[in-house]
Amino acid sequence: MAMATGARTRIFSGVKPTGHLTLGNYLGAVRRWAGEDQHRAEALFCVVDLHALTVEHDPARVRRLSRQAATLLLASGLDPELCTVFVQSHVDEHLRLSYLMECTASDGEMRRMIQYKEKAPAERARGGSVRLSLLTYPALMAADILAYGAHEVPVGEDQTQHVELTRDLAVRFNQRYGATFVVPKATQPVVATRVMDLQDPASKMGKSHARTAGIVYLLDEPEVVRKKVLRAVTDAEPDVAYEPERRPGVANLLNVLAGCAGGDPRRLAEEYDSYGALKKDVAEAVVETLRPVRERHAELVAEPSYVDAVLRRGAERARALARPRVDAAFEAVGLLPAG
Ligand code: TYM
Repeated sequence: MAMATGARTRIFSGVKPTGHLTLGNYLGAVRRWAGEDQHRAEALFCVVDLHALTVEHDPARVRRLSRQAATLLLASGLDPELCTVFVQSHVDEHLRLSYLMECTASDGEMRRMIQYKEKAPAERARGGSVRLSLLTYPALMAADILAYGAHEVPVGEDQTQHVELTRDLAVRFNQRYGATFVVPKATQPVVATRVMDLQDPASKMGKSHARTAGIVYLLDEPEVVRKKVLRAVTDAEPDVAYEPERRPGVANLLNVLAGCAGGDPRRLAEEYDSYGALKKDVAEAVVETLRPVRERHAELVAEPSYVDAVLRRGAERARALARPRVDAAFEAVGLLPAG
């Protein structure tokens, strides 16, 4: 039996401040955190800044992006009266538990992670060395989740492999050292679980990509959003149909439309006979979806002390929740309790 977490479902998820938040982050994760998760469970949402250090980074930029990400989470509707919003590096338990996860995982498991297999060669190609933390990063992510006894981890599709690994590590730890961790599961949105780059529909819309023409950022001006959507790559066939494998560009637009305005992408396809009309509706749906987020963000930027206070309170709450479980894990593996 896993350690009790009380009656309520507990939810943990996070976003990494490696770039400006995108429509992919919003539709794949953040919107659900605000619209559903915080209302139905005891939820924690974290700006996972330690994860931004696994590749070459500019310290001032990471600091700026962390604050911006936290502000955007609040602007997206996370309510500090309902959920806990905090910054990972403010709560030491993540790093404490991360080491125990490194002692639970195998190097082979880490090397099999898709993100490592993709990012390590990219770093080498850029002429840099690969930071060890890029390899061990999933151990920290497992610690993020397991420290809180989270049952559910609402993420986009690209993170499911990491959550699967987290499950394996929880089960292994519990078997070796006794019941300590809840075994969590990933939850995904119904549509837009993987929003693709508008210029390159074979790759994910990612906030740290260098080419930005196909990436819609949450803070893009409406005119910029329209331009990016209207220039989206589709394919040579003239009709509109939902065939994700064969025609990923148009399928992506239909997914984004369904994500923003509701409906089923396959059905939506039947309502259009030209790309022009589809793109126009997608552009407006995205602009309308992002409008309240941009407006609230502008208000919150004018209130930095409010954001600071939310993060301070969030870190206190998070620390209090994580501490007993991480202490229990330390004791379970044989570390001598401090007197
Ligand atoms: P990150 O910062 O890359 O993304 C944050 C969330 O947004 C989702 N997402 C997308 N969903 C759909 N389409 C896209 N194009 C898209 N891009 C991103 C991600 O799936 C994610 O849910 N390793 C994590 C951060 C993390 C974390 C955690 C998450 C660290 N510890 C513990 C959950 C629990 C990451 O890099 O997410």
